[in-house]
Amino acid sequence: MKITQVLQVLAAASVVASQDNNNNNNNNNNNGGDSTATGNTGGSSSQSSSSSSSSGKQYSSEFGVLEFDNFGFEGYYKHVKKLDDSDSCQCELASNDQRTIFSGANAPINEEVSVHFRGPLVLSQFGFYTSDDFQTGSSSGSGWTRQGYYDGESQTSENITFLTAAGDNSTCLGKALTYADTDGISKADSSQILAKDTKIISDEEFIIFSSEECGKSGFGKDCGVYRDDIPAYHGFNGTTKLFLFAFEMPEEESSDEDSFDYYNMPAIWLLNAHIPRTSQYPTNGNCSCWGSGCGEFDIFEVMNTTEANHLFSTIHDYQGSDNIQTGIQAQGYISRDTSSTMKGGVVFDSQGKVSVFLSNSTSLDETISASDINDWISSESSSDKSYTSTLSTVTNTGSGKTSAASGSIPFMLDVRYILAGFVAVGASVFF
Ligand SMILES: *[C@@H]1O[C@H](CO)[C@@H](O)[C@H](O)[C@H]1NC(C)=O
Ligand SMILES: *[C@@H]1O[C@H](CO)[C@@H](O)[C@H](O)[C@H]1NC(C)=O
Ligand SMILES: *[C@@H]1O[C@H](CO)[C@@H](O)[C@H](O)[C@H]1NC(C)=O
Ligand SMILES: *[C@@H]1O[C@H](CO)[C@@H](O)[C@H](O)[C@H]1NC(C)=O
Ligand SMILES: *[C@@H]1O[C@H](CO)[C@@H](O)[C@H](O)[C@H]1NC(C)=O
Ligand SMILES: *[C@@H]1O[C@H](CO)[C@@H](O)[C@H](O)[C@H]1NC(C)=O
Repeated sequence: MKITQVLQVLAAASVVASQDNNNNNNNNNNNGGDSTATGNTGGSSSQSSSSSSSSGKQYSSEFGVLEFDNFGFEGYYKHVKKLDDSDSCQCELASNDQRTIFSGANAPINEEVSVHFRGPLVLSQFGFYTSDDFQTGSSSGSGWTRQGYYDGESQTSENITFLTAAGDNSTCLGKALTYADTDGISKADSSQILAKDTKIISDEEFIIFSSEECGKSGFGKDCGVYRDDIPAYHGFNGTTKLFLFAFEMPEEESSDEDSFDYYNMPAIWLLNAHIPRTSQYPTNGNCSCWGSGCGEFDIFEVMNTTEANHLFSTIHDYQGSDNIQTGIQAQGYISRDTSSTMKGGVVFDSQGKVSVFLSNSTSLDETISASDINDWISSESSSDKSYTSTLSTVTNTGSGKTSAASGSIPFMLDVRYILAGFVAVGASVFF
């Protein structure tokens, strides 16, 4: 997406929004506005309150570990009820009565998520793990069991499926998901294993799902409504989960910056798995649950070419923020090493503590003890310090507020729905 194109769409969006506004009593009770911050553990406003460790490092400097505390809240989002692939693009979201209420540690990222990769990137290993009760920094919790695995070297693939958007293009929903061929980005007719040392370049993306197939598409079904004719798979579920990666993010070799939308801006991120199965880049935000806050977690993301060697972490939901495009970003970064393999990942512990780290000690074994993970994290935070952002405690299930909003999507929310398609990769760089 070129910046100019986005601006055009933004202009169009505000026209639609103001029309809606007329029909809508100017009802502004969007998710963020409804939020009540209670018992705020961070001790400050409804915005996420942040505090860095005692490292003395400045705002937005380098850290070894990026952490979010108190992640997860009681809130809601709306699933897609009807997808419309025609040019008129009249997708429909669930009504207020049908909204999905979530709560607890790491919510809504405790739901099934898909794992997304954008180049320039080489993925050599991927692992998905769950634990009954892991607590970061504590030796009392349980360890981790691998539930999904890819190893390029040995061409091992366990409980994962590589998909990519190489299917039919539609004005409304963008390109459909297909199986990814061994190059990660071409269409294949059946599930393939990514070839060893496959490099995807700027703008190119592939996605990892589990190998559990979805049942039929339908509102309220196991995978909800999804796009016709896509290979539809479940994502990676669970409150307490861990994703590990061994990967390279080499410099983009092409110097033709203008021919790319995300030039030299690699990323690894998680989306609520419903999003890519409906549409990751729709022209109408009602074709995805993203804008209503079903969740995105950016693990390692280059945000702009000015800071091309800085990997940021961002949450896109409504926990203490009403701006889902910007989301809540840890105000620090982890360095991108463009010349060697990086290893690390993200831990979502049982208490809603999230740690994003890179450590050369990382090893993607079948089981990982609690003490090993804790050692990897703590050795990085002691050498390079950690940055901790404590999120506000938020309750927003929309209850008691629905009478005013009944039957209509609030004006503010509408604008976000429309924008949603352009930031679903976490590319808040435009805004
Ligand atoms: C898909 O179609 C849209 C609208 O027709 C077009 O703008 C876009 O460039 C196409 N995308 C690709 C990847 O061909
Ligand atoms: C595969 O991953 C899914 C999604 O998390 C999980 O429910 C399932 O138990 C896993 N299957 C195996 C065989 O590990
Ligand atoms: C997903 O995980 C959550 C939290 O651990 C659990 O409550 C839920 O039953 C799981 N869903 C499925 C489909 O396994
Ligand atoms: C690049 O992204 C970082 C992280 O979001 C931000 O702090 C910085 O202002 C951005 N720089 C530019 C030039 O947009
Ligand atoms: C990992 O090892 C490489 C190569 O020796 C080194 O350049 C890099 O700084 C190390 N990374 C971390 C996170 O320690
Ligand atoms: C999205 O759905 C809402 C509620 O039905 C509707 O008011 C709005 O016009 C839709 N937005 C678009 C862009 O179609």
